This record gives sequence, C-alpha cells and structure tokens, in this order.
Amino acid sequence: MHPGSLVGLAGLPAGAIERLLDRAEAWLAAWERGSLAPVLFGRSVALWFAEPSTRTRVSFEQAASLLGARAIVIGERGTSLEKGETLADTAATLQATGVDAVVVRHAASGVPEQLAHAVRIPVLNAGDGTHEHPTQGLLDALTVRCAFGRVAGLRVAIVGDVLHSRVARSTTWALAALGAHVVLCGPPTLVPAALAQALPAEVEQDLHRALQGADVVMALRLQKERMAAAYLPSEEEYRALWGITAERLQWARPHALFLHPGPSNRGVEVESDVHDGPRSLVRQQVRHGVAVRMAVLERALGEGAAAWPS
Ligand code: CP
Repeated sequence: MHPGSLVGLAGLPAGAIERLLDRAEAWLAAWERGSLAPVLFGRSVALWFAEPSTRTRVSFEQAASLLGARAIVIGERGTSLEKGETLADTAATLQATGVDAVVVRHAASGVPEQLAHAVRIPVLNAGDGTHEHPTQGLLDALTVRCAFGRVAGLRVAIVGDVLHSRVARSTTWALAALGAHVVLCGPPTLVPAALAQALPAEVEQDLHRALQGADVVMALRLQKERMAAAYLPSEEEYRALWGITAERLQWARPHALFLHPGPSNRGVEVESDVHDGPRSLVRQQVRHGVAVRMAVLERALGEGAAAWPS
C-alpha cells in the first residue's frame, strides 16, 4: 500500500492525527487570508464516487482545485464496472491513465483497502460501507479542536444509528486517540453494547445519562439504505425517544456544541432550531472538511514542506 494512502483511522497514532489537523489548520488559515500555494500543480486525482455524496465529493474537488491539482470525477454510474470489469482492474486502469491518486467512496466495506493493495498510487477512503470515513473523522476532530482549543478531556456524545455509521467509527477513533471520552448512545438495536468492545468508547443507552456532562453532542442520521431489517418501530418513535431537541441539549454542559456529519434528516434525529442554532457547528464542519482534504491530498501527493503555509 502506498504510504500516502488513508483507508482508516483505527490504530493511527495521536501524533499522526495531530499532524494532519495542524496541516489542515494551516491550510484553512492560508485559504482565509487568500494566500494558498498551488503545491499540487500538475497533479491529478480521480474522485470515484460509487455512492451518493455532496459534502465529501465537492470538498475533495474543491481541495484539489485550491491546491492546483486537477480532479477527475467519476460518478455512481457510467464506469466499465457495469460491463463486468473488476474493481481491481478499474483501479489499475485509473492508475494507467496517469492519475496520481484515487479517492474512492463505495457502499461495500473494504473496497478502499482492496484497491490500495491493487495499485501503487495513494488511495484515499471517502467512506466505505459501515467501515470508516477517515476524512470525516479528521474534520470532526478539527472542528472540536478549533472550538475548544483541545480535544483531550472532552466528553463527546454520539447519538443515533452507530451500528451502520462509518462516521461514528472514524470520529470515535480520532477523538479517542486525541484523549476525548466518547459515549455512544441510541436504541439498543442500533447501538449494541458489544460496540464498546470494538471501539474505544462507552456505550450508554440512556439518552439523559449520555448527554449529562457532554461538551459536544453529535447526532447521526438513520441509515435506512444500510438497514437489512427493521431496527425501529418508526421514525416518529425515534424522534420522540432519541431526537436532539433544544430541551435535550440542555442536559449537556451549558457550553455544549452540536455537530452533525450530514446529510441531516431534520425532524428525525435533530430539530431545526438545534441544527441551525447558535450552538451548531454543522457549517464549520463542512468548511473544515475542505481544509482536512487539502491536508490529506498534500500528504498523499505533496513534495517539499518548504511550500507549506506556516
Ligand atoms: N458526511 C458525508 O459523508 O456527507 P456526504 O455523503 O454528503 O459526502
């Protein structure tokens, strides 16, 4: 696997995560003062999104463009996979066209890792099935770090469909590595107690107890497209028992902030007054996503730290 590949955050040391967040913060500052350096000029990146996306796809495209690289977007339909070509042959074909890296989103867990072993160029995971979404985990960690000046010692409650959420996994890996206490909460069918053995997190099925003392509350969408069975009686019941309302946000600490990785289903996992309210960092998360993807592309493709913004 190319050392610039990023297929997941599980096991990534805190130092490596901090370094990526530092680079993202530097790129964010350079972007805001209009002094970005086109350090990836002349490079090209294939963005292969075999599953729907708005934030991740556009922000990778924007990040590549802001650093001077060309992004070639390949959508859900229209590749030769539809004619029977294998994933490995598709990846090898992309490599043979001369692209310098492949960003991939896929409904099947493990596809980015499989591709990373099939090619010699960096492969960046833009979300695979229920496995990981590493750039989302990094942007969530960056958003928390920017808001509080640190991650260590914070209590972060992640509420919702953890079972099907690659975001919950990557964000938990990132925040826990940086010293946060992560609490996973939701219906027992979607947050089984056994998750506490698989992730560096506490499982707390009582919403009030999960939110008490929380510095950050993150709501997750119900991923109906990944549910092979009925996990809930209804969305109305979910909203009534687990939805984040302004009243429930009061159970957290007075300064607590709200995150959502998106896309959001308003009126299900979160009410609009919380989603759009003064404690919401939802739009900052998206902006930080561009900066994180600049850092990840730079790590994958960049040469010469002298060109990095200070
Ligand atoms: N958070 C996230 O992955 O959003 P998109 O599906 O819009 O990329």
